[in-house]
Amino acid sequence: MNTLNDPQSFAYDQTAGPILSAAAEPAVSFENLSKTYRMDRIEVPALRGVSGQIERADTTFIKGPSGSGKSTLLNLLGLLDRPTGGQLTILGEDVTRLSDRAAADFRAQHIGFVFQGFNLIPVLSVRENVEFPLLNRKMSAAARKDRAMEYLDAVGLSEFVDRRPGEISGGQRQRVAIARALVSEPSLVIADEPTANLDTKTSREIVDLMDRVRTELNTSVVICTHDTDLITPDSSVIHIIDGQTAKE
Ligand SMILES: Nc1ncnc2c1ncn2[C@@H]1O[C@H](COP(=O)(O)OP(=O)(O)OP(=O)(O)O)[C@@H](O)[C@H]1O
Ligand SMILES: [Mg+2]
Repeated sequence: MNTLNDPQSFAYDQTAGPILSAAAEPAVSFENLSKTYRMDRIEVPALRGVSGQIERADTTFIKGPSGSGKSTLLNLLGLLDRPTGGQLTILGEDVTRLSDRAAADFRAQHIGFVFQGFNLIPVLSVRENVEFPLLNRKMSAAARKDRAMEYLDAVGLSEFVDRRPGEISGGQRQRVAIARALVSEPSLVIADEPTANLDTKTSREIVDLMDRVRTELNTSVVICTHDTDLITPDSSVIHIIDGQTAKE
């Protein structure tokens, strides 16, 4: 059974974490965020004071030219990297200065991330890759397996679960990465070019799937994309040019 079609099974635990206490607040807000990469003597100011919000249970698209700072911003929002300056609040918690350990815990509990290059583990099967984010959860092995299978079914990969990432197509790998980001049912899903390399029909299906999860789990979704055709008229858009937010 695919419980993605059964909203009851996804009734969100409103008592968990900081979510209830900050119900009216956006899922993410960032103020004057900056990030300068330092390599030897060279400094690359990738983000230069970016402010914005990601609303709860909304889909926000981040668009902008190559090299404009989109992945840099997503990495900061996903707690994969630290800002050089500014402030970041996620689910009501100021995460700007969390220790590395606390940031990793926060990320594991609340954030699902689809990487621009997938980052699948080559020696694990498709199913094991999807189970991976659940390994630290208090779940039985059988429950973990069931949950992984449910999400692999949702992305149309039930028949490929025993293959390794090297034995499936690029588009299928992308769908594995998406199942892995969703499987922990996080409050915030961040996807960096989740539909790059996919044909138009599959891209639309992937965005529709993320939209369904958003509605059923009240997830906030952030999608960075070059493909402006995917941006639906009612979604929020953050436009980044040259490390700064641009006016529409
Ligand atoms: N680890 C890094 N070290 C040094 N410079 C970096 C690093 N990552 C990104 N940059 C630089 O920061 C700027 C922004 O890069 P970023 O990857 O955020 O762009 P992007 O908008 O995601 O581009 P694309 O659409 O091509 O994925 C670029 O000038 C890039 O070269
Ligand atoms: Mg990028």
